[in-house]
Amino acid sequence: MTSSVPALGRPAAIRRRPPVGIRTRPASAADEAAVERLFQALHEHNAGLDPMFALGPAWRSALRAHARRVREDASGRSGLTLLAWLDRRPVGLLMMGGQADTELFLHRHWAELLALYVDPGARGRRLGAHLVGAGVAWARGHGYPRVQLYVTASNAAGRALYEHAGFRLTQEVWRLDLDGGADAAVPHLERTSA
Ligand SMILES: CC(C)(COP(=O)(O)OP(=O)(O)OC[C@H]1O[C@@H](n2cnc3c(N)ncnc32)[C@H](O)[C@@H]1OP(=O)(O)O)[C@@H](O)C(=O)NCCC(=O)NCCS
Repeated sequence: MTSSVPALGRPAAIRRRPPVGIRTRPASAADEAAVERLFQALHEHNAGLDPMFALGPAWRSALRAHARRVREDASGRSGLTLLAWLDRRPVGLLMMGGQADTELFLHRHWAELLALYVDPGARGRRLGAHLVGAGVAWARGHGYPRVQLYVTASNAAGRALYEHAGFRLTQEVWRLDLDGGADAAVPHLERTSA
């Protein structure tokens, strides 16, 4: 299950500087392999918590197209792909995207935190907190009024990090599996009228 979590007010515990020895910079075209490696590791982690997050067969080309769109948008408003490096090793990935809902809604524009991953060897040094802070700063700098994200309900570390950074739960995703999943046979809705 996932939850959509908008940020409220001031982020509480965002770290402005990266941890000592780590440098961050927006991904360039030459960084495709690094982005892919960390994105794949993130989704292996996420699919371990919820199989619905398994990557599809065309994920590499879709990710490359997304990264290219972000790089080529001169306004910088469509997104941010940020890598963290420990020497020459990529150890962190943050992806942000600008979103616009349909004109049905008054509050249509928002920024989404699309992906966040810290290599296991670099965890616990507040790199995740720094990357989230960089994403929030990017959103603020481009005029987005809020940041939202999806996190699997059982992802304790992710939830704690976002909560620490000032995010609060405001929506839930409810799921009914219809294709033979473990819970598929449980609900049985009877018709009471024609
Ligand atoms: C979640 C993740 C990004 C955290 O990265 P990190 O650099 O280790 O996190 P930080 O050191 O910046 O931690 C910041 C805060 O998050 C919380 N936190 C981080 N890891 C935690 C853990 N394993 N358990 C509980 N809280 C945790 C703590 O509140 C921490 O604050 P503190 O240092 O004052 O205790 C990292 O564990 C990761 O990449 N996990 C796999 C992918 C993932 O879950 N991504 C996010 C959801 S899509």
